[in-house]
Amino acid sequence: MGTVPVCRRPADGRTDLNLMLLKSAKVVALIIVLVTIAACSTGDWPGSFTPATLPAQGNAAQGKALFQAGTLQATACSACHVVDNSPAEQGPSLVGVATRAESGWSGHSATDYLFRAIVYPNAHIVSGYSGGLMPSNYGQSLNGQQIQDLIAYLLTLK
Ligand code: HEC
Repeated sequence: MGTVPVCRRPADGRTDLNLMLLKSAKVVALIIVLVTIAACSTGDWPGSFTPATLPAQGNAAQGKALFQAGTLQATACSACHVVDNSPAEQGPSLVGVATRAESGWSGHSATDYLFRAIVYPNAHIVSGYSGGLMPSNYGQSLNGQQIQDLIAYLLTLK
């Protein structure tokens, strides 16, 4: 009277309880699996901004313009990086960075490497340089499209 017959098998009350326990165990197992997948897919990234959230296409020409001029909020990359054989500035020369990026981060694509270098510069410091020099706010001062454009441009620097 008044009880909701959930999972009820009238003939056997214990089967009823076992079935419910089994179902909760399955739900718990499913939650653990989902949490693990979520943790693994962002585990390599210090924040929630990851390459998976970028728009599909980058425009290398736009990226080049952005690299050279920056924006009101974002310091121009060219203030610190050369892309030809002139002497390096504060940051490393980016001549050949596309090639270095391909094998620079084991298990990751060149895009991942470049995204990390731009958005999380202190997650990996280029050998011979110190951390804390490259602005660490590009993930805020640039949007996903701008970062994808920059990556498309850097991928042309083979
Ligand atoms: C104030 C100077 C400065 C500015 C501005 C700057 N960087 Fe850097 N960048 C550095 C320094 C210093 C390093 C090396 C230390 C490190 O890894 O953080 C570096 C490292 C890099 C690397 C890794 C290079 C390699 O060989 O692995 C990339 C790629 C890069 N910067 C891209 C950019 C882009 C794109 C911008 C503009 C959105 C930018 N940087 C703006 C100073 C700067």
